[in-house]
Amino acid sequence: TGMFTYDPGFTSTASCESALTYIDGDEGVLLHRGYPIGELAEKSSFMEVSHLLLNGELPTQAELDKFTHTISRHTMLHEQLATFYRGFRRDAHPMAIMCGVVGALSAFYHDSTDITDPRQRMIASHRLIAKMPTIAAMAYKYSVGQPFLYPDNNLSYTGNFLRMTFGVPAEEYVVDPVIERAMDRIFILHADHEQNASTSTVRLAGSSGANPFACIAAGIACLWGPAHGGANEAALNMLREIGTPDRIPEYIARAKDKNDPFRLMGFGHRVYKNYDPRATVMQKTVREVFAAMNVSDPVFDVALQLEEMALNDPYFVEKKLFPNVDFYSGVILSAIGFPTTMFTVLFALARTVGWVAQWNEMISDPEQKIGRPRQLYTGPTERAYTPIGDR
Ligand code: CMC
Repeated sequence: TGMFTYDPGFTSTASCESALTYIDGDEGVLLHRGYPIGELAEKSSFMEVSHLLLNGELPTQAELDKFTHTISRHTMLHEQLATFYRGFRRDAHPMAIMCGVVGALSAFYHDSTDITDPRQRMIASHRLIAKMPTIAAMAYKYSVGQPFLYPDNNLSYTGNFLRMTFGVPAEEYVVDPVIERAMDRIFILHADHEQNASTSTVRLAGSSGANPFACIAAGIACLWGPAHGGANEAALNMLREIGTPDRIPEYIARAKDKNDPFRLMGFGHRVYKNYDPRATVMQKTVREVFAAMNVSDPVFDVALQLEEMALNDPYFVEKKLFPNVDFYSGVILSAIGFPTTMFTVLFALARTVGWVAQWNEMISDPEQKIGRPRQLYTGPTERAYTPIGDR
């Protein structure tokens, strides 16, 4: 391999040092700044976890109040951005809108684009965390043709998002605490996941000194793919397509067939070779949401039986393929009322916290350099130029 280590897909390259998130993929362990994800999902709020990721420690009550207040001060979007939405087709995928609108933020918030100033970096981080629910809800409202709703800072971060998404000006929207808690938990489960493709993209974009809004837009673009954040949408579409448990074996057979590109969506992970601890919480949350809403969805039974069948199949056992975070999330999101096209948007909303925390960590790292991988050149060696008439 010459001078360079050849590592396609970076399966064995540590691109940075980070104190944010620890994963032991063999044991199925995920810790944020030392705290197990299951405990954070159970006992913390998304705002507490955001504070933890961004500032290093779980907040005291006073710190949490201050942090929540700071975030709520930034929830509004520049009014001009509403016009920007109107340039999109109504049937635009909301992830396409997200890439555009978040990238456009750099044109609106000039006073937080000087990345050499730690204060500006923190303002940009707060702005991104605060505005993402507004941006996501507006993408949804635009697609259904309903008016945009302004944020209501009397509500929680998550309650405000639910209201901006599902509320209408004509009626008072009452936030259902069970749905609010479930949604908040889903945000916690997606908040950070060390050097995944989109986070690495944010770091790489940021390593050149690009402004934070542009970097997060790059992360959103990367997250969109079905092998990454797009898997939640793909997983629910797959479960709906399967439809009834009797058709599961057919899909398992397809997933195992080397000549068929089909994969079980929401299954397998680059790092986890054990049950994804986020999937455990997610499955539990489905049951809670269904019980509280007094609903059920045949798609959940398909998911449970598909999981059981796969986990008992030698192909999945040998390759250590387990359900990942995306396997059950769609079932809950659909019950709450989100269309599948919004699933990856919700992932982006929550992951923004991890992205900005990682970006800040990178910029503050004295070892930080522009990310510039090398390659193994496989093209022709130097050769004589042929004039066009002689080719
Ligand atoms: N269904 C069937 N076979 C699979 C699956 C699957 N979902 N995932 C991996 N495999 C097989 C794959 O064919 C390969 O077999 P072989 O060694 O015989 O060629 C082996 O398992 C290893 O797969 P890989 O593609 O080399 O592994 P990777 O680490 O590059 O890919 C992955 C990880 C998540 C992209 C992949 O498991 C996948 O495509 N899963 C489905 C999409 C998905 O659920 N993505 C969400 C990931 S979690 C949330 C997030 O990160 O956004």
